[in-house]
Amino acid sequence: MVFSCLFVMISVCLSVTTAAPALDTAPHCRSIGCCPGRDDECYMPVIDPIRDAVCYCDDFCLRTEGSDCCSDFPTVCVQEQIDMGAMVSELWLADENRIDEGRYSYNVQAPKKDYRNHTDLSPSRLYTSFDEDFIFNKGTFKSFVPLCDNYEIMQGITENNTAAEQAEVEQYLDDVMDTEIMAITTRYLKDGGYVTDLQDLREKMKTIWFTNYFAEAENDSSAFEHVFCGDIKSTLSAGGLHNWVTVYREESIGNLNYHGYTGQRAPLQLGIQYTWIEAIKPRTSFMFGVSTEFELAIFTTAWLFNPDEVTSFSFSDGVSTFPVDVVAWTHKGSEGQIASAYFLD
Ligand SMILES: *[C@@H]1O[C@H](CO)[C@@H](O)[C@H](O)[C@H]1NC(C)=O
Ligand SMILES: *[C@@H]1O[C@H](CO)[C@@H](O)[C@H](O)[C@H]1NC(C)=O
Ligand SMILES: *[C@@H]1O[C@H](CO)[C@@H](O)[C@H](O)[C@H]1NC(C)=O
Repeated sequence: MVFSCLFVMISVCLSVTTAAPALDTAPHCRSIGCCPGRDDECYMPVIDPIRDAVCYCDDFCLRTEGSDCCSDFPTVCVQEQIDMGAMVSELWLADENRIDEGRYSYNVQAPKKDYRNHTDLSPSRLYTSFDEDFIFNKGTFKSFVPLCDNYEIMQGITENNTAAEQAEVEQYLDDVMDTEIMAITTRYLKDGGYVTDLQDLREKMKTIWFTNYFAEAENDSSAFEHVFCGDIKSTLSAGGLHNWVTVYREESIGNLNYHGYTGQRAPLQLGIQYTWIEAIKPRTSFMFGVSTEFELAIFTTAWLFNPDEVTSFSFSDGVSTFPVDVVAWTHKGSEGQIASAYFLD
């Protein structure tokens, strides 16, 4: 847990340290294991005030009428670990909205060896060029770019969620779900027992990412706002903002001051320190160039099968192999949502 505190804003950090990860309150199949076929011995007693009862962990318990599976049967016996390395290798090749490196450039300048020290060691901007006309109109970036100004960046201020803003979210989700990235993600998550189809994934993503949650006040933030747009705690510590386009946009209007890099990983990952408005972000990381659906696919999948833990995998671009570590935290006030998610540098 100390580890997590190095990477996330204080409020998320506190919320993950004060509550245990979502544990199954009834460890039935987790205790006795899962049994193939029909196995009448594969059961456990369950406490039922009305009648003596047992529940089963054999495949037969799934029969459509009168399912008598134990409550943890879906997570323990049906849902499987997702092969993230295989999935992300496919996503990488399919990410047609990823921006070619000729469209932007950057200058990492000084390393920030001690990220607890907040001195600005990099006099110049991070970005040295950025083809706005091309990037802002490329594929899903077109409906992503209008989203961030929907949010009150200060935590503690309840979001408005006007009808026009909600329509922008629907448009964005439509565009994202229409990509090959989400078709691949649906296939992996369906095979693993996490979603039934593309529409089901869309609904889950809308809930997970766009439902407002409590950061400092009711409905003042959301996973999407935090991760892709950023928000600021009233104590002026910056939260989230793990997206390469948003970092550019905030830097270009003079809101974000790049201090130096805290880590670098091939192919496109950079850890950085910055001040945003007047708030310090000691350390954060993002991937250059990738589409937001590529990030959403990875964060959502990691959270669905391995919440609140570091998921480590390697993906291949067909030539080289790249190790990635990612974590997605559950929002503790609302269990069905992500609080924050990011790549570890
Ligand atoms: C932070 O780093 C700067 C530049 O390296 C250095 O001058 C300063 O003394 C450091 N501050 C602390 C508190 O260590
Ligand atoms: C929310 O509504 C208030 C009052 O109409 C307005 O002042 C504020 O700018 C709105 N916030 C955003 C992010 O649109
Ligand atoms: C927060 O959002 C929920 C769901 O949209 C809504 O029911 C509730 O009234 C909102 N609360 C405030 C204070 O806006």
